Amino acid sequence: MEKQLERNIKELMAQYPALGEVLESVGIGCTSCALGSCRVKDILEIHDLDEEATRTLMTRMGGIIYGASSFELPTYVRRPTVVRAAFCPPIARMVEEHSCIKRLIALIPKLAAALGQDFRAAKPLAEETLDFIRNYADRYHHAKEEDVLFAFFDPDSEIIRAMLQDHGEGRGYVRAAADALDAGRAAEFEASLRAYGELLMGHIHREDTILYPWMDRSLGDRQVGQLFAQCMAVEGRLGAEAKRHEAFVASLEARFPA
Ligand SMILES: [Fe+2]
Ligand SMILES: [Fe+2]
Repeated sequence: MEKQLERNIKELMAQYPALGEVLESVGIGCTSCALGSCRVKDILEIHDLDEEATRTLMTRMGGIIYGASSFELPTYVRRPTVVRAAFCPPIARMVEEHSCIKRLIALIPKLAAALGQDFRAAKPLAEETLDFIRNYADRYHHAKEEDVLFAFFDPDSEIIRAMLQDHGEGRGYVRAAADALDAGRAAEFEASLRAYGELLMGHIHREDTILYPWMDRSLGDRQVGQLFAQCMAVEGRLGAEAKRHEAFVASLEARFPA
């Protein structure tokens, strides 16, 4: 069973489909997860299973993989993690930024409707929306993730590569939306922005519920101090502009009430 810890979970599930149900039963949604290629041992760590839950899960997985043959449970030793009552302040701030990005995404249908009604009148709002996405969601928030938070972890880990892939995909949608807006193609602008919103909602959910909790547990107090200092440097450079973008979301909400 030891060697199974190193295996890619999607490959393993392709070979033994019943594993998906076993993982789902302990709240690990590999069957529906877009990441796809985590190793079994990464899943145990990222999903924070304790020793007993790990033993139970590995016993059930072994039963499926080895059938009636006997197998030995692996000697899996978790890295020590830090238990905090809440996210450390720099990560808590990034969760707040997610909230702001989600509020903007929720307004996309109303913005698109306004653009459909009167393109010229609504175009400046659409441009400012793209400015928010490029400079707040991407340059400010994603830069904090890519250059600061993720740099504390193995850049080759599947979970981080998958997150970076989402960021790249999002940039593609935003470029397509900007081109469509410049060309006056409202329907294409809406389609690109909706695709962006859908991608980001799933991405943020995975960060809030899986990635950030795992990272928060894994960082020691000294690393949290370094993370805090580096995030404060980003705030020093981009914080004032970030406040302006947050105010834009509030103004858009006032213009398009729920
Ligand atoms: Fe992200
Ligand atoms: Fe994020």
